[in-house]
Amino acid sequence: MEVIQGDCVEVMRSMSAESVDMVLTSPPYDNLRDYKGYTFDFEQTANEIFRVLKKGGVCVWVVGDATVKGSETGTSFRQALYFKDIGFNLHDTMIYSKKNYVPLTHKRYEQQFEYMFVLSKGKPRVFNGLTVKSKQTKGGPGYYEKDGSVRANHSPRTFKEEKLRPNVWEYVIGQERCGHPAVFPLPLAKDHILSWSNEGDTILDPFLGSGTTLLAAQELGRKGIGIEISEEYCEIARKRLAMNQPTDDMRALQLDHVYGGGSKDAVRKTMNKRILMEDIINNPEKYQVLCANCNWIKRHENNEHGRGRPKNSHYEKKIAELHG
Ligand SMILES: C[S@@+](CC[C@H](N)C(=O)[O-])C[C@H]1O[C@@H](n2cnc3c(N)ncnc32)[C@H](O)[C@@H]1O
Repeated sequence: MEVIQGDCVEVMRSMSAESVDMVLTSPPYDNLRDYKGYTFDFEQTANEIFRVLKKGGVCVWVVGDATVKGSETGTSFRQALYFKDIGFNLHDTMIYSKKNYVPLTHKRYEQQFEYMFVLSKGKPRVFNGLTVKSKQTKGGPGYYEKDGSVRANHSPRTFKEEKLRPNVWEYVIGQERCGHPAVFPLPLAKDHILSWSNEGDTILDPFLGSGTTLLAAQELGRKGIGIEISEEYCEIARKRLAMNQPTDDMRALQLDHVYGGGSKDAVRKTMNKRILMEDIINNPEKYQVLCANCNWIKRHENNEHGRGRPKNSHYEKKIAELHG
């Protein structure tokens, strides 16, 4: 994982054309937050992203609008249309919905979402569509003809177990407290990287912030390049990446405390499972790799009963939130 301090346009100019497989990023939105006074040139950034992206690559641009004197700026739409002008396809306009949004003005409905523009350089090379559980059935009693009559369907009724996710994705926000004001949820980054890239691909984030995109890339076996203008935020990103490396000690903790399986390890005697659960909930990044590999949590997510299944509904809820 490469964290580069600098202005993203200048750094991208030093990169070869068509050298990255995917871009996932969230730029500063209007003047909603002051990131230590740093600014960026949107058009030059978009042009450079287009140049460094391989054909068939996807850029996910996560953005929202400020409201100025009672009117939304519409910057997000202008940016999406500029991306189209320079040759991108607007493959999908997706919504990032915040489960625990913050109520703001009370003068209109509460702001719950941001846009996730999925832009592709030609036809997307990769689409690993994520699915959700389905209650839909195939087959069944029959179909309506145009004239309203019913034509019987004799094939047996079967349940489709999974269906493609819709394009509104909901996440819990504010889980990652690391000293950066606008961290996006790690599961959001992982879901997009899984969808639009394969293992071994190179993912670029030109506005790296606290490093969430690279954390996700690291966990998913992708290579990553992150550009961030603030040295302080680069340092936060480097620390998060270093912390997220699974060590043997952490694996031992996972086995001893999360599985709760029979070991007489000394550490196990001093920490009970509840303390560990609190730590998992308060420091999800630290445990993300462990959780991804943890059979105890997998069993919980699959709703399977068995040894080690949490009894306490509070923790069940927290773990469900943690895993989106
Ligand atoms: C919305 S934040 C990104 C947050 C990130 N997605 C995360 O999860 O932490 C945007 C970042 O862009 C950085 N930035 C602003 N102008 C920049 C520029 N010209 N080049 C590179 N980074 C810049 C800001 O310092 C800020 O950290």
